[in-house]
Amino acid sequence: MAAFTLRTTALAALLAVLADAGAISPPPSSCPPRFTYETAQLADAAIGPNAALFSFGANITPTPSGAAGSSISKPPPQGPSCKFFPGDAQWPSSTTWAKLNTTLGGALIKTVPLAAPCYANWPQHDPAACQAIRDRWSDPHLHVEDPTSAMFPIYQGRTCMPTDDPAANNCTLGGYASYSVAATKVSHIQLALNFARNANLRLAVRNTGHDFGDKSIGAGALSVWTHKLKDIQYLPEYNCKGHKGPAFKLAAGVVTEEVYAAAEKNGVTVVGGECRTVGIAGGYIAGGGHSPMAALVGMGADQVLSLEVVLPNGRFVTVDEDSYPDLYWALRGGGGSTYGVVTSVTVKAYPKIPVTTMTFYFMTGPNVTADTFFAGLGVYMSYFDAFTAAGAYGYFLTTSIGPGQYFFQFMPMWGGNMTEPQFTTLVNPFLNDLANLGIAVDPVITEYGSLYQAFNGSFPPEVVGAADSHAASRLFPRENFQPAKLNATLAAVRHAVEGGGILVGYNIRAAPNPAVNQDNAVNPAWRKATGFFILAASWPATATDAQIQQVSETLTNDWMARWRDVSPGAGSYMSEGDINEPDFQQSFYGSHYPRLYALKQQYDPTGLFYAATAVGSEDWEVMGQLPWIPTQNGRLCRKA
Ligand SMILES: Cc1cc2nc3c(=O)[nH]c(=O)nc-3n(C[C@H](O)[C@H](O)[C@H](O)COP(=O)(O)OP(=O)(O)OC[C@H]3O[C@@H](n4cnc5c(N)ncnc54)[C@H](O)[C@@H]3O)c2cc1C
Ligand SMILES: *[C@@H]1O[C@H](CO)[C@@H](O)[C@H](O)[C@H]1NC(C)=O
Ligand SMILES: *[C@@H]1O[C@H](CO)[C@@H](O)[C@H](O)[C@H]1NC(C)=O
Ligand SMILES: *[C@@H]1O[C@H](CO)[C@@H](O)[C@H](O)[C@H]1NC(C)=O
Ligand SMILES: *[C@@H]1O[C@H](CO)[C@@H](O)[C@H](O)[C@H]1NC(C)=O
Ligand SMILES: *[C@@H]1O[C@H](CO)[C@@H](O)[C@H](O)[C@H]1NC(C)=O
Ligand SMILES: *[C@@H]1O[C@H](CO)[C@@H](O)[C@H](O)[C@H]1NC(C)=O
Repeated sequence: MAAFTLRTTALAALLAVLADAGAISPPPSSCPPRFTYETAQLADAAIGPNAALFSFGANITPTPSGAAGSSISKPPPQGPSCKFFPGDAQWPSSTTWAKLNTTLGGALIKTVPLAAPCYANWPQHDPAACQAIRDRWSDPHLHVEDPTSAMFPIYQGRTCMPTDDPAANNCTLGGYASYSVAATKVSHIQLALNFARNANLRLAVRNTGHDFGDKSIGAGALSVWTHKLKDIQYLPEYNCKGHKGPAFKLAAGVVTEEVYAAAEKNGVTVVGGECRTVGIAGGYIAGGGHSPMAALVGMGADQVLSLEVVLPNGRFVTVDEDSYPDLYWALRGGGGSTYGVVTSVTVKAYPKIPVTTMTFYFMTGPNVTADTFFAGLGVYMSYFDAFTAAGAYGYFLTTSIGPGQYFFQFMPMWGGNMTEPQFTTLVNPFLNDLANLGIAVDPVITEYGSLYQAFNGSFPPEVVGAADSHAASRLFPRENFQPAKLNATLAAVRHAVEGGGILVGYNIRAAPNPAVNQDNAVNPAWRKATGFFILAASWPATATDAQIQQVSETLTNDWMARWRDVSPGAGSYMSEGDINEPDFQQSFYGSHYPRLYALKQQYDPTGLFYAATAVGSEDWEVMGQLPWIPTQNGRLCRKA
């Protein structure tokens, strides 16, 4: 477990003591102060002689009351048509990079690819170190600790894969950023943004590198690495702008397992993902954030009370219901690396809850034909509405294990805020239906005292780093699992699984929650869904580019096309989505897209922030790409 610091607010403690003593009553509203690293900001005066490198961008006026124009208007592009690239005459000189580093107090890192020790063409070449990297390549922690690595190397360009070939000597940066700023102060982020904007460089924002499409990297980029920002502050009596109750303030680099542990320590529950190492304040909240808590309290983005943000012009602001309300709306669900760099978020916490989980598996065999197997999956789907309405969540795998043979497994099914008797009552009809189909299962049902204990005890560790698969996803509305549409939905799912697709499914809904502000940019498709299905397509390790293209095309244009056809107008989850998603604006953002695009033009008029499939990304392209394999390895240019 990575180290983190737990801070206490001296002020809150003092007020509590004084209030206990009857000395004073606490003020009606007191918003928590910024973290220490957030008080270290870049002053205009400090830029002085280096204005050409570090000056701030033009001032931005927030849209009053968050009401934005919703028509897509495209302003004339500002600046050169491409970001400058290593080797260009305009690429900063080594003296200029050194000046940036000095100004940053030494926080600039020149990229060494994570697997460089495996390659003779890097001074880091070291067979023992290479072996250690190969052994841990599928462990997300290895990548999280690295400033530039990305967990889906296919979109980096596979230019420096770990290898056991002792003669390997062709590792290059590929889609990795050129330089990273290991930010430990807000001023570091301000300097990085100002430098990248003034020098016309590509900017990347990297937290953990989890994104399915490697949206946190980019060739020739200066990257802001938020990993070292680890503060966690528990606010037992948060009381700010009308919101009262327990909350957590989380620095940008805090990951799920850290916040769950902090919540456990303080006897509360916090919304986070299912994966131990996903960052909370970065891509998770920006993308919407699904979790085992969703059916009880809504999305991760719904829990956000305020954010601290460095804007594209380099200015540092607080974003909440009153301050920059338009960004408060957009930053909760509108996507990462689009409107600024979030340096911390404050999220609502809930009382501790019991959790009961269930695991079991079934597969085809002597007594279970393929038809019976899929009928069993259909039976489960027929309970999606009832299970989520009761607050439950299901995480399951369905895959082919040989010709005509299939396997289903819960990883687990999860009853949030349920004791074992409550959970058993909920699932018994489902278990009886499976038995009536002739599917024998052996459920293991376990009650835990808290979310953290259930998470620790029941979620499998994640495996990343493979370059042999590619995923897409669909947010199926509840209608898909009701009688009139269930068969058609099941047929579309079966087609993909029969073809070799690996289904990682969630029975989930984003519950309405009057205790939080749910008027945000979360994809509206989440509000209607009870099934979130990720579908992965894989290819052999030795596959040629042509084979990878063919598999990707089948995934997007055949398997997923059927899923789209059976759920017209629904959407997909941008944070676990297809980098080749057709009409990504509709799929990932739905009806929010025009407003999000207008805000992008308003807050980032020079196009400093870019990520594949992010809002406004359709105006840019990474050059030199093969169809269906859109890597981040190439120069970033405006589309003509
Ligand atoms: C194994 C695995 C399990 C997952 N489980 C879940 C889950 O249970 N629930 C769920 O909702 N999602 C899940 N995801 C998806 C996850 O939410 C996304 O990959 C998310 O984008 C990760 O965010 P990050 O900040 O950790 O990653 P990164 O890849 O570092 O960043 C993702 C995006 O956010 C941007 N970004 C990062 N930090 C900031 C910042 N501070 N300010 C602005 N932009 C920023 C990056 O530039 C990039 O575009 C999972 C992914 C994997 C690989
Ligand atoms: C930046 O400075 C630090 C401290 O002097 C040094 O360790 C680091 O290598 C420098 N980074 C670059 C890219 O030169
Ligand atoms: C590096 O060299 C190996 C062995 O010749 C080759 O298989 C691989 O494709 C090369 N990688 C790149 C990115 O060129
Ligand atoms: C199949 O069903 C028969 C009869 O009910 C039973 O005896 C047998 O154990 C079952 N086999 C499996 C693998 O479940
Ligand atoms: C858990 O259930 C209790 C009792 O029904 C309820 O008061 C509480 O709000 C629930 N908590 C959550 C997070 O749903
Ligand atoms: C987490 O799970 C492991 C076993 O999987 C167990 O040893 C450990 O005690 C658990 N930790 C907590 C805090 O529950
Ligand atoms: C769905 O399929 C089942 C089994 O094939 C069948 O009994 C049922 O009538 C079908 N329902 C609809 C609405 O078509």
